[in-house]
Amino acid sequence: MQKCFSLASMVAILMFTFTGSCVLSQTTVHQNLSASDIAKIDSLMSQMTLEEKIGQLNLFASGWDATGPMAGSNNEQLIREGKVGAILNAYTVDYVRALQRMAVDDSRLKIPLLFGYDVIHGHRTIFPIPLGQSCSWNLKMIEDAERVAAVEATAEGLNWTFAPMVDIARDPRWGRVMEGAGEDTWLGSKIAAARVKGFQGKDLKANNTLLACAKHFAAYGAPQGGRDYHTVDISQISLYEWYLPPFKACLDAGAGSIMTSFNEIGGVPSTCNKWLLTDLLRKEWGFKGFVVTDWTSTNELVDHGVAENFKDAARLALNAGVDMDMVGCTFLDYMAELLKEKKVTMGRIDTAARSILEAKALLGLFDDPYRYCSKTRQETEIMTPDHLSLARRMVSESCVLLQNQNQILPIPEGVGRVAIIGPLADSKKDMLGSWSGAGKWEKSVTLLEAVRERFGKKTQVFYEKGCNANDNDKSGFDAAVKLAMSADYIILALGENSWMSGEAASRTSIELPGVQNELAEVLAKTGKPIAVVLFNGRPLAITKLSGLPVAILEAWFGGTQAGNGIADVLFGDVNPAGKITMTFPRSGGQIPIFYNAKNTGRPFILTDTTDKYVSRYLDCSNDPLFPFGYGLSYTSFEYSNLEVATDVNKITVTVQVANTGSRDGEEVIQLYVRDKVGSLTRPVKELKGFEKALIKKGETKTISFILNTNDLAYYHTDMKKYWDPGEFEVFVGTNSAETISKSVTIK
Ligand code: GLC
Repeated sequence: MQKCFSLASMVAILMFTFTGSCVLSQTTVHQNLSASDIAKIDSLMSQMTLEEKIGQLNLFASGWDATGPMAGSNNEQLIREGKVGAILNAYTVDYVRALQRMAVDDSRLKIPLLFGYDVIHGHRTIFPIPLGQSCSWNLKMIEDAERVAAVEATAEGLNWTFAPMVDIARDPRWGRVMEGAGEDTWLGSKIAAARVKGFQGKDLKANNTLLACAKHFAAYGAPQGGRDYHTVDISQISLYEWYLPPFKACLDAGAGSIMTSFNEIGGVPSTCNKWLLTDLLRKEWGFKGFVVTDWTSTNELVDHGVAENFKDAARLALNAGVDMDMVGCTFLDYMAELLKEKKVTMGRIDTAARSILEAKALLGLFDDPYRYCSKTRQETEIMTPDHLSLARRMVSESCVLLQNQNQILPIPEGVGRVAIIGPLADSKKDMLGSWSGAGKWEKSVTLLEAVRERFGKKTQVFYEKGCNANDNDKSGFDAAVKLAMSADYIILALGENSWMSGEAASRTSIELPGVQNELAEVLAKTGKPIAVVLFNGRPLAITKLSGLPVAILEAWFGGTQAGNGIADVLFGDVNPAGKITMTFPRSGGQIPIFYNAKNTGRPFILTDTTDKYVSRYLDCSNDPLFPFGYGLSYTSFEYSNLEVATDVNKITVTVQVANTGSRDGEEVIQLYVRDKVGSLTRPVKELKGFEKALIKKGETKTISFILNTNDLAYYHTDMKKYWDPGEFEVFVGTNSAETISKSVTIK
């Protein structure tokens, strides 16, 4: 019995037969393409050979910068043969122009290349690492920083960035927490959208906008043991509730590409997960861009144990929904054979090739393949004073004042001899942090340089390294103590080397490495005022340090303007308002520890108890050292008069916040909600809003939030997202642990 085709499919067959290629209906084509773009793409698709279509599915690395194991690729000849769709790690106008010319002048159909790079927290002007930026809670500034990154990257020939990294992470042992926005999904989603808008701007055809690439899809931030690339095994509810929303936020913001993650989820590696890449991403979410793998993650399906060989891996990846293979050469080497063996379809190859051509059209590369190759822009739009000024402000806003014993900070006016001590005080190489791409560490400003500049010609700033960041050599202690004894004030720069976080940089211990705790202890014995400045890419278990009578300023890796932005805070020009977006544990043994945890049937308690059968550790209290949302100010704030009013599907929250201190300051007022009884267990708190408000000394501000019932929705076992009527507790406060609250019932 001949299967009965619907009219639509008959039409599709006719079109296929007539044009020799599958021309997608208008409705499935990326909605931002012009009619001429579509005509150009249709024309190319009808002319392209199978080899040329497969060619578009290849992303090769230039010889410039390996960000993973190098796969062999003689890409220049392949470019000329029209067998490369994109190049990564190639930039500067001259180099990009030379490679583009090979594609545009020498290949048969003259299809231009995409040029991608990891522009993660700046291009030449390097901003604080993304985890640091997230502590600013300044979405506009984060968007502006990505705008600057896009301006600088496109001024050097790039048109695609492998960012934003939007992996939610609750395990600071994992080195790539430095690249994300911390542990909270709601905040992470807001930041993800801001980054995409910053990169892509309002017009992708403009010569200073970058195609964004949300990564790593998905749940890469939940590896077992916090060990990079390790297995991810989480529930479907957790996937939907915690790890997927930032990606959806990127797509809703218009992100043009997505990168698959190295990891598996519950036995299925993301790079061949058809449910993830096709059913969810394209069918449920309606994604119109293209999917690129991570570095050789197609090849790695063999090591994962789901593909017999690279050819089988290529089949699995393409059929799951991957459109472009990053440096793996598997599509190039095997796709024609797979088609011949009917293990992939021409239709799937067509949709993949078309998705790459659409991206090139969206970027205006068919109108002008050299659109991003302006020498003038390269000479005038990089590391400009405005860019450096924004970077400096971002450094200050990313700093978090964790402790300020005896109001040691800000450094008092008229301070005498200042001793700057520690392994991170004058380390240009560490200031940029990991994933600093084209950043020049030589151009970064260290803390020592910035503090010395502050005092001008006056010779009152002295320096001793004291120790290295990551070994057991204490031979520098004596000189450090001697200097400290002669000083009136000590700035102690401690932390990690920048290579201790980032990719393939997990740590089993998140303590201060080496002998830095001992250095802090011997210096504390001098009785001098000590301001510790921390340079690190992850939350650290600084319990010993915090037990000393010191001030502690978390400065992350601040990038090109690190020293200047930190000095602005140390000297009080900027009142710190940063709030940590990832919990600081007391001990690595508490990991994973995060604020929006479940209550459990044996709730953990914070106070001492004789009860034996409660959820706790015998050797550590349950609470973190510093909770999510925590950060001090040089002034103080008081919360009062919390009002919660409910209306149909709406909750209005108002609170008064008074600046009770001696100087103006910004405060990040945070709104949390707890669903007291759900059909599934619910977190004890969930961030649902914030406002970063400037409150002058003596001033009281009334802050209002509006929540609607959709904000209370969560995924149920049917994987549908909706809210349950009932009792809710509404919290407002200065961090996730210090709040005032009221309960409401919503019908
Ligand atoms: C790396 C990273 C990914 C990056 C890519 C290209 O392995 O996992 O984030 O974008 O390779 O450098």
